[in-house]
Amino acid sequence: MDVQIIDKVFRPFISAEQISEKVQELAVRINADYAGKRPLVIGILNGSFIFAADLFRGLTVDAEISFIKLASYKGTSSTGNVVTAIGMEENLKDRHILIVEDIIDTGKTLSSFLPEIHARQPASVKIATFLSKPEALQHEVHADYCAFEIENKFVVGYGLDYDGLGRNLPALYILK
Ligand code: XMP
Ligand code: MG
Repeated sequence: MDVQIIDKVFRPFISAEQISEKVQELAVRINADYAGKRPLVIGILNGSFIFAADLFRGLTVDAEISFIKLASYKGTSSTGNVVTAIGMEENLKDRHILIVEDIIDTGKTLSSFLPEIHARQPASVKIATFLSKPEALQHEVHADYCAFEIENKFVVGYGLDYDGLGRNLPALYILK
Protein backbone atom coordinates (compact mmCIF):
# COMPACT_ATOMS: atom_id res chain seq x y z
CA MET A 1 0.00 0.00 0.00
CA ASP A 2 1.17 3.51 -0.82
CA VAL A 3 2.09 5.84 2.01
CA GLN A 4 1.71 9.59 2.09
CA ILE A 5 4.33 11.65 3.93
CA ILE A 6 3.53 15.34 4.10
CA ASP A 7 2.97 16.29 0.44
CA LYS A 8 4.46 13.24 -1.27
CA VAL A 9 3.24 9.73 -2.08
CA PHE A 10 5.59 6.76 -1.92
CA ARG A 11 5.00 3.21 -3.17
CA PRO A 12 6.34 -0.04 -1.68
CA PHE A 13 9.77 -0.78 -3.14
CA ILE A 14 11.73 -3.32 -1.09
CA SER A 15 9.92 -5.45 1.50
CA ALA A 16 10.99 -5.93 5.09
CA GLU A 17 11.63 -9.62 4.30
CA GLN A 18 13.90 -8.82 1.35
CA ILE A 19 15.76 -6.30 3.48
CA SER A 20 16.23 -8.72 6.33
CA GLU A 21 17.53 -11.43 3.99
CA LYS A 22 20.03 -9.09 2.30
CA VAL A 23 21.27 -7.59 5.57
CA GLN A 24 21.86 -11.07 6.93
CA GLU A 25 23.87 -11.95 3.79
CA LEU A 26 26.08 -8.92 4.39
CA ALA A 27 26.56 -9.93 8.03
CA VAL A 28 27.72 -13.38 6.93
CA ARG A 29 30.31 -11.81 4.60
CA ILE A 30 31.46 -9.42 7.31
CA ASN A 31 31.81 -12.27 9.80
CA ALA A 32 34.08 -14.10 7.38
CA ASP A 33 36.12 -11.00 6.48
CA TYR A 34 36.63 -9.86 10.08
CA ALA A 35 37.27 -13.16 11.83
CA GLY A 36 39.68 -12.51 14.71
CA LYS A 37 39.85 -8.76 13.98
CA ARG A 38 37.43 -7.20 16.51
CA PRO A 39 36.13 -4.47 14.17
CA LEU A 40 34.84 -1.12 15.38
CA VAL A 41 31.59 -0.44 13.56
CA ILE A 42 30.84 3.27 13.22
CA GLY A 43 27.24 4.07 12.33
CA ILE A 44 26.47 7.46 10.83
CA LEU A 45 23.42 9.05 12.40
CA ASN A 46 20.58 9.50 11.90
CA GLY A 47 19.79 7.47 8.80
CA SER A 48 21.85 4.34 9.49
CA PHE A 49 20.56 3.51 12.95
CA ILE A 50 18.15 0.74 11.92
CA PHE A 51 20.46 -0.81 9.31
CA ALA A 52 23.37 -0.63 11.76
CA ALA A 53 21.31 -2.33 14.48
CA ASP A 54 20.17 -5.16 12.20
CA LEU A 55 23.61 -5.65 10.67
CA PHE A 56 25.29 -5.60 14.07
CA ARG A 57 22.89 -8.20 15.43
CA GLY A 58 23.97 -10.46 12.57
CA LEU A 59 27.61 -10.30 13.60
CA THR A 60 29.02 -13.29 15.39
CA VAL A 61 32.62 -12.01 15.50
CA ASP A 62 33.68 -9.89 18.46
CA ALA A 63 32.76 -6.35 17.43
CA GLU A 64 32.25 -2.91 18.95
CA ILE A 65 29.85 -0.24 17.79
CA SER A 66 29.72 3.52 18.10
CA PHE A 67 27.71 6.24 16.39
CA ILE A 68 28.63 9.65 15.09
CA LYS A 69 26.84 12.55 13.47
CA LEU A 70 28.25 14.39 10.52
CA ALA A 71 28.04 18.14 10.33
CA SER A 72 28.80 20.01 7.15
CA TYR A 73 30.14 23.54 7.24
CA LYS A 74 31.59 25.93 4.70
CA GLY A 75 35.35 25.64 4.39
CA THR A 76 37.54 27.98 2.41
CA SER A 77 36.86 28.40 -1.30
CA SER A 78 39.58 25.85 -2.04
CA THR A 79 38.34 23.20 0.36
CA GLY A 80 34.61 23.73 -0.34
CA ASN A 81 32.20 22.24 2.15
CA VAL A 82 33.89 20.38 4.95
CA VAL A 83 32.25 17.48 6.72
CA THR A 84 33.28 16.85 10.28
CA ALA A 85 32.35 14.13 12.77
CA ILE A 86 30.57 14.90 16.01
CA GLY A 87 30.90 12.45 18.88
CA MET A 88 33.93 10.48 17.73
CA GLU A 89 35.59 9.64 21.01
CA GLU A 90 37.10 6.25 20.21
CA ASN A 91 40.77 5.89 19.47
CA LEU A 92 40.85 4.60 15.89
CA LYS A 93 44.57 3.95 15.72
CA ASP A 94 45.28 0.41 14.50
CA ARG A 95 41.58 -0.48 14.62
CA HIS A 96 39.62 -2.16 11.83
CA ILE A 97 36.90 0.37 11.07
CA LEU A 98 33.61 -0.46 9.37
CA ILE A 99 31.64 2.67 8.49
CA VAL A 100 27.90 2.09 8.24
CA GLU A 101 25.82 4.47 6.12
CA ASP A 102 22.19 4.52 5.07
CA ILE A 103 22.76 5.61 1.49
CA ILE A 104 25.52 6.69 -0.85
CA ASP A 105 23.95 9.14 -3.25
CA THR A 106 26.48 11.51 -4.85
CA GLY A 107 29.17 10.19 -2.49
CA LYS A 108 29.95 13.70 -1.33
CA THR A 109 29.31 13.10 2.37
CA LEU A 110 31.56 10.06 2.65
CA SER A 111 34.29 11.35 0.37
CA SER A 112 34.67 14.49 2.47
CA PHE A 113 34.56 12.60 5.75
CA LEU A 114 36.83 9.63 5.00
CA PRO A 115 40.09 11.65 5.20
CA GLU A 116 39.24 12.44 8.82
CA ILE A 117 39.02 8.70 9.54
CA HIS A 118 42.26 7.90 7.68
CA ALA A 119 44.07 10.69 9.55
CA ARG A 120 43.52 8.73 12.77
CA GLN A 121 45.65 5.86 11.44
CA PRO A 122 43.24 2.93 11.58
CA ALA A 123 44.49 -0.51 10.52
CA SER A 124 41.77 -0.65 7.84
CA VAL A 125 38.63 1.16 6.73
CA LYS A 126 35.68 -0.39 4.92
CA ILE A 127 32.22 0.89 4.12
CA ALA A 128 28.89 -0.85 4.49
CA THR A 129 25.92 0.98 3.02
CA PHE A 130 22.29 -0.06 2.99
CA LEU A 131 21.68 1.62 -0.37
CA SER A 132 23.61 3.18 -3.21
CA LYS A 133 22.46 5.07 -6.28
CA PRO A 134 25.15 4.31 -8.91
CA GLU A 135 23.65 6.79 -11.41
CA ALA A 136 23.95 9.64 -8.90
CA LEU A 137 27.55 8.98 -7.87
CA GLN A 138 29.85 11.97 -8.44
CA HIS A 139 32.68 11.33 -5.99
CA GLU A 140 35.00 8.42 -5.72
CA VAL A 141 33.52 6.34 -2.95
CA HIS A 142 33.53 2.59 -3.02
CA ALA A 143 31.18 0.59 -0.79
CA ASP A 144 32.68 -2.73 0.27
CA TYR A 145 29.27 -4.00 1.36
CA CYS A 146 26.05 -2.72 -0.20
CA ALA A 147 22.63 -4.25 0.42
CA PHE A 148 20.85 -2.74 -2.60
CA GLU A 149 21.81 -0.65 -5.61
CA ILE A 150 18.77 1.40 -6.55
CA GLU A 151 17.66 3.79 -9.25
CA ASN A 152 18.17 7.52 -8.80
CA LYS A 153 14.91 8.26 -7.00
CA PHE A 154 14.12 9.41 -3.48
CA VAL A 155 13.37 6.65 -0.98
CA VAL A 156 12.13 6.50 2.60
CA GLY A 157 11.78 3.88 5.32
CA TYR A 158 14.11 1.59 7.25
CA GLY A 159 15.80 4.61 8.82
CA LEU A 160 15.61 6.96 5.83
CA ASP A 161 13.43 10.03 6.08
CA TYR A 162 11.56 12.63 4.14
CA ASP A 163 11.74 15.83 6.18
CA GLY A 164 12.24 13.83 9.38
CA LEU A 165 9.39 11.39 8.79
CA GLY A 166 9.18 7.83 7.51
CA ARG A 167 12.19 6.40 9.33
CA ASN A 168 9.98 3.98 11.27
CA LEU A 169 8.56 2.26 8.16
CA PRO A 170 9.90 -1.33 8.28
CA ALA A 171 10.12 -1.56 4.48
CA LEU A 172 11.59 0.76 1.84
CA TYR A 173 9.30 3.04 -0.19
CA ILE A 174 10.10 4.99 -3.35
CA LEU A 175 8.73 8.32 -4.55
CA LYS A 176 5.86 7.80 -6.99
P1 XMP B 1 25.63 11.99 -0.61
O1 XMP B 1 25.15 12.68 -1.86
O2 XMP B 1 26.54 12.87 0.19
O3 XMP B 1 24.29 11.84 0.19
O4 XMP B 1 26.19 10.63 -0.90
C1 XMP B 1 24.18 11.09 1.30
C2 XMP B 1 23.08 11.61 2.19
O5 XMP B 1 21.97 12.18 1.45
C3 XMP B 1 20.74 11.75 1.98
N1 XMP B 1 19.96 11.06 0.93
C4 XMP B 1 18.75 10.50 1.06
N2 XMP B 1 17.92 10.38 2.12
N3 XMP B 1 16.34 9.24 0.79
C5 XMP B 1 16.72 9.76 1.97
O6 XMP B 1 15.95 9.65 2.92
C6 XMP B 1 17.11 9.30 -0.32
O7 XMP B 1 16.69 8.80 -1.37
C7 XMP B 1 18.38 9.97 -0.18
N4 XMP B 1 19.38 10.23 -1.05
C8 XMP B 1 20.33 10.88 -0.33
C9 XMP B 1 21.08 10.84 3.14
O8 XMP B 1 20.94 11.57 4.34
C10 XMP B 1 22.52 10.45 2.96
O9 XMP B 1 23.23 10.24 4.15
MG1 MG C 1 17.99 12.39 5.58
